[in-house]
Amino acid sequence: MNKRYSVGKSNKHDSADLHVSGEARYVDDIHLPKDALHVAIGYSAIACGEILSMDLQSCKKGGGAIDVITASDIPGKQDVAPVFSGDLLLTDKRIDYHGQPIFAVVAKDYNTAKRAVGFAKIEYKEETPLLDLDEALDQESYVRPPHGMRCGNAQKAIDSAPHKISGSLEIGGQDHLYLEGQVSVAIPEEDNRITIHSSNQNPTETQHLVAEVLNLSMADVNVVTRRMGGAFGGKETQAAPWACIAALFAIRNQRVVKCRLGREDDMRMTGKRHPFKHEYTVGFDNKGKILGVDYKIAADCGHSADLSDAIVDRAMFHCDNAYSLVNANIIGLRVKTNTVSHTAFRGFGGPQGMMLAEVVIEDIAQYLSKDALSIRQINFYKQGDITPYGQTIESEQHAEIVNALAEQSKYESRRKQIETFNQNSPMIKRGISLTPVKFGISFTVAYMNQAGALIHIYHDGSIHLNHGGTEMGQGLMIKLAQIVAEVFQVNLDKIKINATQTDKVPNTSPTAASSGTDINGMAVLNAALKLKKRLLKFIVKEFDCDESDIVFENNKIIIANKNNDFNNIIKQAYMARTSLSATGFYKTPQIHYDRVKAKGQPFFYYANGAAVSEVEVNTLTGESKVLRTDILHDAGNSINPVIDIGQIEGGYIQGMGWLTSEDLKWDQMGRLSSANPATYKIPTAHDVPDIFNVKLLQDAPNITNTIFRSKAVGEPPLMLAISVWCAIRQAISSLSDSKKGIKLEAPATPENIMKAVLDLEK
Ligand code: MTE
Ligand code: HPA
Ligand code: MOS
Repeated sequence: MNKRYSVGKSNKHDSADLHVSGEARYVDDIHLPKDALHVAIGYSAIACGEILSMDLQSCKKGGGAIDVITASDIPGKQDVAPVFSGDLLLTDKRIDYHGQPIFAVVAKDYNTAKRAVGFAKIEYKEETPLLDLDEALDQESYVRPPHGMRCGNAQKAIDSAPHKISGSLEIGGQDHLYLEGQVSVAIPEEDNRITIHSSNQNPTETQHLVAEVLNLSMADVNVVTRRMGGAFGGKETQAAPWACIAALFAIRNQRVVKCRLGREDDMRMTGKRHPFKHEYTVGFDNKGKILGVDYKIAADCGHSADLSDAIVDRAMFHCDNAYSLVNANIIGLRVKTNTVSHTAFRGFGGPQGMMLAEVVIEDIAQYLSKDALSIRQINFYKQGDITPYGQTIESEQHAEIVNALAEQSKYESRRKQIETFNQNSPMIKRGISLTPVKFGISFTVAYMNQAGALIHIYHDGSIHLNHGGTEMGQGLMIKLAQIVAEVFQVNLDKIKINATQTDKVPNTSPTAASSGTDINGMAVLNAALKLKKRLLKFIVKEFDCDESDIVFENNKIIIANKNNDFNNIIKQAYMARTSLSATGFYKTPQIHYDRVKAKGQPFFYYANGAAVSEVEVNTLTGESKVLRTDILHDAGNSINPVIDIGQIEGGYIQGMGWLTSEDLKWDQMGRLSSANPATYKIPTAHDVPDIFNVKLLQDAPNITNTIFRSKAVGEPPLMLAISVWCAIRQAISSLSDSKKGIKLEAPATPENIMKAVLDLEK
């Protein structure tokens, strides 16, 4: 399959026209029967304590609720935690965070339901919430035990190093701010079964939890996800509770029930990116080569474990970024506080880990008065090097990309220009930074790296494509359709993309870890090749020819040099009683990881990229702006370049938001103050740099055997935005000749920039 028919083409997103015309159907667009019921959630007004009494009578009488449920109305399991325990669907005793769901009501419409919630009377015994990460660290308040990763002898290497610096870095969390909030519609079916339409990255886990909550079997529950209006990790575990509540009401009332959270409720009740605090000591030589590191990585996990074990693991896996750490002592702490439980967010802890790698480089550069890029370059992994977790580095692509980008973007001459600019500009300062990304691809929990597919060819020649992945805007569906089109050499319009459904393809993993195309693509290829094989067998027999006489080409099947319409052959195959439906399966080979020893090969391969960002900072007001960005990113043999570039642009801007303007604030009572888009600022079109050059690395097939030698692209580009934060730090550092690291916390909001500027004067 050398000449590509469909794979590698820049097809627009399969729903692009529907998206822009407003015709794409999201869960909230599903037409409901007149008697459908709408959910509102009653949640805790305090962050820590106990419920003393609950009077919910008036929710119905005065408030107009039709049904009200509390924990005791749950027929089955009350805990909907994904991996460990501790996430109650509804609580009736302990309160662990402000916004914790206590009861739910349904009414004839959403506004009535929301109003009815206000009629509840709940008395609490309040306790002082634990909100501060440092305080929680002192108390050793953890959701999971600490976990370490070691290589070489860090202490010895640091002690004997010519130079040694220590520091700390606080990094804020991030709200997913998907355009479409959490939403599920539950439809009761005959015989106590249920169908749920859910905006969900993880339909199988939701099917599992709905079954457990309702005391049903998984086979009684069908979860359907056509598309999400964005997810970004926020619908890996956080979509399930609302599906469970809708399902519970639907079965109890035998009515269709919709649970759609209002934006503020969504922001209060669902988990976010973990805030982190890093503490580090690094020993290095005169050139800036890192000799040893001692890293303490602490994540604010909120009140429960959720996915935090794996998220902090991924932070630990990425605190080296692209730099060789021969002697490292890395400890990861999963800190418990009285906030909502933090969860997956694009990069899954990787971005926070990578920030540590980059701040250490920046500190070393500052200390030695050298350009940070040169420090990066001398610390790059070389082929054959081994990571602190035991994985061998098989390529130096990270270094090649950085060098190529430095050249393309004229990094060195622009850096000099900026130096001159800064000498002549006392107040407005500029900064430039080039940072690499090396991101491990695979679920770090090995069993999750599996996928399934189901393809039907109908006897008119149209093709029905099903697989375990979900569409959240990333372009998974079009890429997978291109794979089918490639196998049969047919036009894309022949392939009908369907909603992901748990009754079509079972036991799927969430669409996460950027692995959607990698694993579902292989499963789809597997199914398509099975069908092709059956077709070949049929043709050989029917036309009395050799397999080598058969060519699939341009919607035709050429048999012994004679053109046949694809549809005709399919019809004939059907008439000859050929099975035209096949399942496909894939499990990622080679990967393994022994968590007890913290050694193995958790990643199938690495995705690489680099970005140069140039910024301007007003050092009197703290305002900053990205002036120019150049990105070179590796998507292997891209299956769809235009989709991949969209992922890179979007990921970078989303990362820029995380590191510059998105500032989550909780008040002293543990209430989220930034609970709507007016107080929580995501980037807008105006924040996109005026010069924004995004290129895919050319002629770079993945050396690992992935689907058509492509590379995963969903999450890695978010981390390209670390260059923005580093450039801001560079701009601030031009104010002083100090060797001391700049105390810039993330996000680099105007407030935090001013703090860093004022700290220089101390
Ligand atoms: N792109 C869009 N448009 N919307 C999203 O919600 N989620 C990101 C990324 N890109 C997301 C997105 C995250 S967190 C992941 S893990 C991947 O897409 C998941 O899809 P993939 O594995 O198919 O790349
Ligand atoms: N990435 C994203 N989601 C996950 C992972 C991961 O590595 N592990 C479990 N869920
Ligand atoms: Mo993405 S955070 O792995 O859903």
